[in-house]
Amino acid sequence: MYREDFPMLKQDIIYLDNGATSLKPQCVIDKVVDYYENYSANAHRGDYDISYKVDLEYENTRDLVKDFIGAKRKEEIVFTSGTTDALNLIVNGFFANYLEQGDEILLTKMEHASNIMPWFRVAGETGAIINYIPLDDNNFVTLENIKKSVTPNTKVISLAEITNVVGDIRPIKEICEFAHERDIFVVVDGAQSIPHKKCNVVDTDVDFLAFSAHKMLGPTGVGILYAKYELMQNIEPVNLGGGMNESFDTPEKMVLKEVPTRLEAGTPNIAGVIGLGEAIRYLNKVGMDKIEKQEKNLREYLIEKLIKIPHIDILNLESDSGIVAFNVEGIFSEDVAYYLNKYGICVRAGNHCAKLTKDILGVANSLRVSLYFYNTESEIDSLVELLKDKDKIMKEMF
Ligand code: ALA
Repeated sequence: MYREDFPMLKQDIIYLDNGATSLKPQCVIDKVVDYYENYSANAHRGDYDISYKVDLEYENTRDLVKDFIGAKRKEEIVFTSGTTDALNLIVNGFFANYLEQGDEILLTKMEHASNIMPWFRVAGETGAIINYIPLDDNNFVTLENIKKSVTPNTKVISLAEITNVVGDIRPIKEICEFAHERDIFVVVDGAQSIPHKKCNVVDTDVDFLAFSAHKMLGPTGVGILYAKYELMQNIEPVNLGGGMNESFDTPEKMVLKEVPTRLEAGTPNIAGVIGLGEAIRYLNKVGMDKIEKQEKNLREYLIEKLIKIPHIDILNLESDSGIVAFNVEGIFSEDVAYYLNKYGICVRAGNHCAKLTKDILGVANSLRVSLYFYNTESEIDSLVELLKDKDKIMKEMF
């Protein structure tokens, strides 16, 4: 679907690593080049035409993001350098001031490093405690298990909506409903979900959300932090500098601008943000419902084929996203990835930056296929054909 729009797909490769980053359609590439070729000025600083155009395009992307995730106002959207940066800003700019000794932070062992390590540090600094929500037999988060894990000291639950290894879709709306009845904040890492399914932050009532442009057809180096307006106003800027201040005279006399500008110190990734705007226009044109449906079909097709191969051990059979994690019995995942690469197939292998998953899955490493709407059944056929013959893998893997 829409393959002709992606220049990378003209190469002789099969790209199945969309969880790491997505490919970019020509229109996004053109939009970025157009900025550099035709109006490459700074944002929010110039009193001349091309700088006004930058402001227009930059702020227009903020509006596009707002509508894409169903936010109420554009001040709830801050551009960062990625999901990691956005999560760090949430933790260091808000929770570092909010958490106190003995407060509890609820995570799972399935989270990406970016949704664990900032919490480790803030726990060390504030005396808060990290607890992990137990998972069910499929390694999914259930509301029941959250209910069992919450105590009167729980202050925040921070979860990926879709995890990057097991790929389960978490019931964010129900979790928010339960958490908010107890004044618990909910932080969502949307890196693996926002590119793949419809999002409405008003409907789910999530407090904070982080995601990346580059996994949703946009440029690298741009992330999005969404926070409810009243919470956004209480995020302390981690970076101080140009663009975000009204005035400064002495350390005691620094006047900062309103959000979102206050949280975007320095020259932003202008080309990246403008490119993200084009990516959102493109995703809207394709339709998120259609994208979700296509990935579901592709996932079912892949599982149906993989399950028939006796030496393949699927780690997330019951998940319903486009992420499929598996191992070839007795062969190190990176060796299999190397073998597939010889045939132009790109998959990710290793621990996928989610290093606590080994405690749950019992294996530290796996192969991960992560699908997007431009993948095809015939690409899956090629992958499966190469995985079928274990002797061939053994012979060719080095
Ligand atoms: N977080 C990205 C992944 O899961 C890089 O591959």
